[in-house]
Amino acid sequence: MSTHAPSSQADRFAPWREKHYNATVESIREVRPWLRIFRLRPDFGRLRFIPGQYTVLGLGNWEPCVAGAIPPPLAQTERLVQRAYSFSCCILDADGKLAAAGDEELVEFYIVLASGTAEHPAGLTPRLFQLRAGDRLFVGPRAKGTYTLSPLRPGDDVVFASTGTGEAPHNAMLAKLLSQAHPSRILSVVGARECADLAYESVHRELERRFSNYQYVALTTREPRNMDATRADFVGKQYVQQFFAAGDWEKRWGPIDPSNTHVFACGNPSMIGIPHVDSDGHRLYPEPTGLVEVLESRGFQADAPRQTGNIHFEKFW
Ligand SMILES: Cc1cc2nc3c(=O)[nH]c(=O)nc-3n(C[C@H](O)[C@H](O)[C@H](O)COP(=O)(O)OP(=O)(O)OC[C@H]3O[C@@H](n4cnc5c(N)ncnc54)[C@H](O)[C@@H]3O)c2cc1C
Ligand SMILES: NC(=O)c1ccc[n+]([C@@H]2O[C@H](COP(=O)([O-])OP(=O)(O)OC[C@H]3O[C@@H](n4cnc5c(N)ncnc54)[C@H](OP(=O)(O)O)[C@@H]3O)[C@@H](O)[C@H]2O)c1
Repeated sequence: MSTHAPSSQADRFAPWREKHYNATVESIREVRPWLRIFRLRPDFGRLRFIPGQYTVLGLGNWEPCVAGAIPPPLAQTERLVQRAYSFSCCILDADGKLAAAGDEELVEFYIVLASGTAEHPAGLTPRLFQLRAGDRLFVGPRAKGTYTLSPLRPGDDVVFASTGTGEAPHNAMLAKLLSQAHPSRILSVVGARECADLAYESVHRELERRFSNYQYVALTTREPRNMDATRADFVGKQYVQQFFAAGDWEKRWGPIDPSNTHVFACGNPSMIGIPHVDSDGHRLYPEPTGLVEVLESRGFQADAPRQTGNIHFEKFW
């Protein structure tokens, strides 16, 4: 096991690691230096989950941070830094078969290195990005969350909309739907800064070839064609909600009926755009326009306390 810390320091914290850490890093795929897929093996056996759920990952505040990170303040007392992470899924396993999302030996997480600021240095990801295969960490033993496929009825069309690592829960949900031979249309719309950030693109393209009811749309915002207005192929920033607002959705999919379509949105809260409901019941949508405002103008209804709609969301911060 690598510790990446001076041996005296490593020894000092060994009892803490022994006490708190309950999983081992099986493998790490570096997609970009700041974007990784972690596969973890819990000591306690299978960590079962319902696709769409999350758990917490944790590392001690004594662990070192990856080079270049804004250093967190020096800790006075030892504690675990914990954050929520949605279970992701490889979707197709090493044999090319659909993965048993939620019931596998290893759990997969798709994580971006948060930049943080001098006032609020990122607490966990600079430490997670220091880990290597064989290292130890804490994995919450119970899956949590209600962002699942449970509102779906057989035959409903399904749309997954995400930014960045927000596609993680959708990958597990998609594996589940495809393995149940979901009979209706499934669309994944994934937004990222650059094409190279689309860690799961090749598996989605393979799924499109295998399943005639599945489509994958990748949108970028920081490729030259998004940024350089002098280019012949200039398209501007392709925001996820714009895809739905501009009619590209129907062009791609054909007619859409809100009465049998469920939309799952995950990632950057400003893409989702959850409205504030004031004391008179008016819905106040945030600026800039998010997906909820676009879809509610088209007959969809976002989930609200005690009222399940057909737009379901998980915001990452
Ligand atoms: C239910 C749930 C599931 C989550 N699942 C994932 C996941 O699968 N993958 C993942 O990378 N993160 C996920 N997150 C976010 C995660 O919990 C942490 O907030 C994130 O990893 C940053 O942690 P940090 O301690 O390094 O920085 P923090 O100090 O906690 O955050 C610093 C800032 O980074 C930004 N930020 C946080 N997360 C992201 C993100 N994913 N993409 C872009 N900017 C971000 C926000 O502006 C935030 O204020 C999830 C959050 C929730 C609530
Ligand atoms: N070099 C590095 O170290 C490096 C590189 C990349 C990311 N990061 C860090 O990684 C973290 C997360 O980055 P990320 O790219 O995964 O997540 P992100 O910042 O949430 O961006 C993901 C995608 O969402 C888009 N987006 C932003 N606001 C939106 C809105 N209102 N509506 C719809 N889409 C919107 C982004 O477009 P925009 O292009 O308009 O933002 C981008 O295409 C950040 O802390 C970032 O600083 C670091």
